[in-house]
Amino acid sequence: MLSTAPNAAASPARTQPILSVQDLAVSFDNGSGPRVQAVAGVSMTVHPNQTLAVVGESGCGKSVTAMSTMQLIPRPPGRFDRGKIMFEGRNILALSEREMLSIRGGKIAMIFQEPMTSLNPVYTIGDQIMEAILLHQNVGAEQAWSIAIQAMKDVGIPKAEERMKAYPHQFSGGMRQRVMIAMALACQPTLLLADEPTTALDVTIQAQILELLRELQRSRGMGIMLITHNLGVVAENADVVCVMYAGRVVEYARVFELFDNPLHPYTRGLFNSIPLLATRKHRLTTVEEVVKDARQFTLPPPGGAGVEIGAKHGSLIPWWPDPPTGVKPKLAQEGDEYALVQVAPTRWVGCFKTAEVAAHPSPAPDLDYRREDYQSGNA
Ligand SMILES: Nc1ncnc2c1ncn2[C@@H]1O[C@H](COP(=O)(O)OP(=O)(O)OP(=O)(O)O)[C@@H](O)[C@H]1O
Ligand SMILES: [Mg+2]
Repeated sequence: MLSTAPNAAASPARTQPILSVQDLAVSFDNGSGPRVQAVAGVSMTVHPNQTLAVVGESGCGKSVTAMSTMQLIPRPPGRFDRGKIMFEGRNILALSEREMLSIRGGKIAMIFQEPMTSLNPVYTIGDQIMEAILLHQNVGAEQAWSIAIQAMKDVGIPKAEERMKAYPHQFSGGMRQRVMIAMALACQPTLLLADEPTTALDVTIQAQILELLRELQRSRGMGIMLITHNLGVVAENADVVCVMYAGRVVEYARVFELFDNPLHPYTRGLFNSIPLLATRKHRLTTVEEVVKDARQFTLPPPGGAGVEIGAKHGSLIPWWPDPPTGVKPKLAQEGDEYALVQVAPTRWVGCFKTAEVAAHPSPAPDLDYRREDYQSGNA
């Protein structure tokens, strides 16, 4: 079924998204060659108290999407080609650098994969947390100091007062990551962009940090965009999952529905590669490597949805991108090949824009869903 039904009925307590990325396209100048289309029309939303996991192979545009949300794309060589990033009623992409300064590190915070590159080695941890607080909150030095101490305690750093005077190199990797989180959260952001926040850490510390983020999220109602290669982390932490490939969204669904019944061949390939991830393989590979069997692109997905999509399209499911064998259905319009199609009230998949697909325009993906809804039987 190529449904255009609104998904409002699927979620009990409808909230407005904190963040709404709408058809974002970002490209980079590549010297003499054609521009690199890092993000090619991506839409996603993050609701309060919700974790949206963004997954997909290396280079598919996850970080560029997050960095755009902070307006941290170097321009040039980068360029926002089209789309909007709506945050609290304003389009982030249209804000001046001055306006961004008050949002960045304040209402929107980001934590990166490698904290050592984000902490300045010549300043104490205390100075760095204090700087963030003084920049974004209208408080004096004394009050900033106590907010900083509290932020360190919130993230489980023992002897916080003493630790304020230490330098980054005196902290272990796990502790530095906690400092990064303390800095990010000291200003009470409503949105946290976490780009592989735990990849560099060992498994136990990783679990602790993610649990900590979950607790802080629950107590503050913060929305989180969690970028990760680790599908175990997704299964444990995400409410909604956005699977990206080559600068586009190929699948968008609630976490349990996605794991129970991945529809797109690329997503199915990702799930088949879970054992590889367990062997500490942090980078995913190409679609051909993930989906070894090209016939996957011509088969309907398992379950009822497959039958419904298949019934509309005969034997060929118009999955975007090209199946590795190069079988491409006839497009509705020359050049305009991709569409994100809502195939069920809570599910979207990337398809070729055939005449059939073009005749049923889909609403953009937006799921007001949290895993607690499932556990409490509200979903
Ligand atoms: N500053 C830049 N200049 C030129 N190209 C860039 C720049 N930043 C990103 N890109 C390109 O944009 C594309 C998307 O990159 P991005 O960093 O978003 O990938 P990613 O999904 O975060 O990958 P990873 O999982 O490896 O972190 C890549 O092809 C990358 O080479
Ligand atoms: Mg990245």
